[in-house]
Amino acid sequence: MVANKKLDIVITGGAGFIGSHLCDRLVQKGHRIVCIDNLDTGRIDNVRPLANHRNFTFVEGDVREPLSIDGPVDRIYNLACPASPPHYQRDPIGTIRTCVLGAQHVLELARATGARVLQASTSEVYGDPEMHPQAESYRGAVNPIGPRACYDEGKRCAEAMFFDYHRVHGVAIKVARIFNTYGPRMLENDGRVISNFVVQALRDQPITLYGDGTQTRSFCYVADLLDGLELLMESDPAVTGPVNLGNPREISVKEIAAMVVAQTRSRSTLAFAPLPQDDPRRRRPDVATAARLLGWQPRITLEDGLRPTIDYFALAVARSSHGTPRVDDSAPQRHETSAPRARRAPLTVVRGSA
Ligand SMILES: NC(=O)c1ccc[n+]([C@@H]2O[C@H](COP(=O)([O-])OP(=O)(O)OC[C@H]3O[C@@H](n4cnc5c(N)ncnc54)[C@H](O)[C@@H]3O)[C@@H](O)[C@H]2O)c1
Repeated sequence: MVANKKLDIVITGGAGFIGSHLCDRLVQKGHRIVCIDNLDTGRIDNVRPLANHRNFTFVEGDVREPLSIDGPVDRIYNLACPASPPHYQRDPIGTIRTCVLGAQHVLELARATGARVLQASTSEVYGDPEMHPQAESYRGAVNPIGPRACYDEGKRCAEAMFFDYHRVHGVAIKVARIFNTYGPRMLENDGRVISNFVVQALRDQPITLYGDGTQTRSFCYVADLLDGLELLMESDPAVTGPVNLGNPREISVKEIAAMVVAQTRSRSTLAFAPLPQDDPRRRRPDVATAARLLGWQPRITLEDGLRPTIDYFALAVARSSHGTPRVDDSAPQRHETSAPRARRAPLTVVRGSA
């Protein structure tokens, strides 16, 4: 049961794809939100409609620095981290630091304020799984030294730290293992299956399939995921997770391409490219834990979720072809260097000051 009480909530990564939808939803429910984001892969446009709302504060800040908030904090959703391979591999050391230091800083904030803290973990903790579908008890098959390790191992380390803060300091934690999620506000250039296919189809360009296209994925619409995140956050304190959140319908990437071509009425053909290193062959969540503990299951079919997603990208593609900035071009390009940086002062948030 999701609480009716008005809460003070911090959302890191709140200007990103999932985070901005979460900000919208929680502001609409009357909660007070502080959104912290360094605008690496997030866009200020995603939260612009909330900018003047009295219950919404945006702070440009980095979770790799210690965080402090003036006043109460009841809940922290830790979503800050680039999520798609091209983005998290662009600055791998920056990514692993975001995963690990970010986790520590939100946990310290939770410890200082008594807040509950939810970690947006990932199905990538299962690596290229030998067990199918993946249940939470499966420990994964991750390559610890490959190009995806900055993210996969970073997220695994973050989970470990969450459970250590829970055991050592009694911090109230929730760990969600999120499987592929899609919807409006994904970036055009993020290299993820749905956004790639939809943008290529809308431009009538060849649709790139890696390998032979028989590898499977399962896709959860963002509104379903938000239901799961909120239910997990508000679940009994004894429920720590990890809890898988995703859509168990498994579909080959070739079938998805066909579905996208049909829905966009595109003239695109298929183009085949080599499979990237460590690309998982199969991915499907076992969501029995979420059903049992949270009464959650995804409701929105891929066919239904694709419609608003295609509408969103159609606008973005039309804008870009008319010379106005593309959706992804408006993202400030921050290239965090991996070189050690001078330590900055901790980020102190004063509500209403940003
Ligand atoms: N979308 C998915 O399919 C998926 C699947 C599994 C897990 N997740 C997790 O969910 C979270 C949100 O994913 P998303 O798809 O919305 O990605 P996203 O890239 O759209 O959002 C991530 C946000 O975090 C911000 N950010 C990155 N590094 C930061 C830092 N050091 N300090 C502050 N802000 C920072 C980015 O600017 C962006 O706004 C991520 O933690 C991701 O790992 C997403």
